[in-house]
Amino acid sequence: LISSLTGPGHHHWSYQDILEWDKDYPECGGKAQSPIDVDTQHTVFDAQLRPIQLSGYNLSTAETLELENNKHTVVLKLPGTMKIIGGLPEIYQAAQLHFHWGSKSNPGSEHMVNGRRFPGEIHVVHYNSEYTSVEKAANHSGGLAVLAAFIEKGPDYNEGYEPLLSHLEAVKDGGQITEIPGFDISRLLPQRLDRYFRYNGSLTTPPCLQTVNWTIFNQTIRLSETQLDLLEDTLHHDHDQLLQENFRDPQKLNGRNVLSSFKAPVVGRKAAGEAPPSDSDDSSSLNPGTDAHGEDDPQLGTGDMLAIIFGILFAVTAVAFYVYVRKTRKRNHRSSDSKSNVIYKAATAEENVV
Ligand SMILES: *[C@@H]1O[C@H](CO)[C@@H](O)[C@H](O)[C@H]1NC(C)=O
Ligand SMILES: *[C@@H]1O[C@H](CO)[C@@H](O)[C@H](O)[C@H]1NC(C)=O
Ligand SMILES: [Zn+2]
Repeated sequence: LISSLTGPGHHHWSYQDILEWDKDYPECGGKAQSPIDVDTQHTVFDAQLRPIQLSGYNLSTAETLELENNKHTVVLKLPGTMKIIGGLPEIYQAAQLHFHWGSKSNPGSEHMVNGRRFPGEIHVVHYNSEYTSVEKAANHSGGLAVLAAFIEKGPDYNEGYEPLLSHLEAVKDGGQITEIPGFDISRLLPQRLDRYFRYNGSLTTPPCLQTVNWTIFNQTIRLSETQLDLLEDTLHHDHDQLLQENFRDPQKLNGRNVLSSFKAPVVGRKAAGEAPPSDSDDSSSLNPGTDAHGEDDPQLGTGDMLAIIFGILFAVTAVAFYVYVRKTRKRNHRSSDSKSNVIYKAATAEENVV
C-alpha cells in the first residue's frame, strides 16, 4: 500500500509471492490484516459515524503532483493541505492515492462485499496530523486512515477521472515518474461520503503494518468501459509485463468488528427522510447488481398510494362505462329490430340494390 514503507532491509516483494510476505515482514501474518470481505449481515450500525468531510481536495491546476508507476501500482502523491476533517476521531492529512485492479477477465478490488469482488479499488492514504510524516504515523495505532472505494464499469464516461487517466500512458513503464497538474481529487471518490463501513486493519502490502483506520464507501465509482480498460491495460512492471491483478485476498477478521455508518439497506429516490441523490445513477450504484430492485419496493411512498387510488378509480369508471355501453347497445338493438319490422320490405329492397 505504501511503497516507501519497505523497511530498512528493502526486500523485494511481489503479488506472485503473497504467501511468503510474512517471512520478510512478520506483521503480514498478524491478526488484524487487510483487506477483508465485508459481510453486510454482520456489520454493526454505529450512529456516531459522521459523514466523511474533506478539506482542500479541490487542487488548483497551478499545483503539480507527482505520478509514479512503482511497479506495484500507480501512485499520485498528495499535498498535506488535503485533509479529512470529519468522520474520523482525529484530523488526518493526505499522503498519496493509488489503485488496485484486475484484468479483462478478473475483477481486482482488494476489499469485497458479501463475497463479491469489484473491478477495481481506489485507496486515498492519510496520516494522523499528530505525526510529522506518513512513515512515522504508520508505526502507531490509529496513525493511518485510508479512504477506499470500489470502481465498477458504468455506461458513462467519468469526466472526474480524466485528469488522472490521461497521464497513465506517461508512466507506463515500471519506475517512470511524471508531473501532472492539480485537479479536484474529490471527484475520484463517490458522491455519497456518509455511507461507509469502518474497521481497524493494516496496509495491504508489506510491511502490512496494523495501524490503518479503514473507511470503505458503500457507493461505488463508475468508469466507462474504455476508461476501465485503460486502467487495466496501460501499466507495465519489469520486462514488458503488464501490471495487472495487483490485489491481496481477504484476510481473517479474527473477531474484529466491522461498523457501518448507515442502517437502511438502500437509499432509493423514493425512500423517505433521505436527501434524493443528485444524479439518477446513484441509487443503482449504491447497490450494484440487479438484485437491488426487490429491496426498494416494500415501503410505498405517497406517489405509489396515489397511483393505486387513481388506478382503482379508473378501473371502476371503465367497468361502469362498459356496462352502460352494453345496456345502451342492447336497447338500440331492440329498438332497431322493431323498427326493421316496421320497414322490413323497404330495408330489404335497399339491401338488394347494394
Ligand atoms: C479500532 O481500534 C481503536 C483503538 O483500539 C478502538 O478505539 C476502535 O473502537 C476500533 N474501531 C473499530 C471499528 O473497531
Ligand atoms: C451497500 O450496502 C448495501 C446494504 O448493506 C449492500 O447490500 C451493498 O452490497 C453495499 N455495496 C457496497 C459496494 O458496499
Ligand atoms: Zn492499496
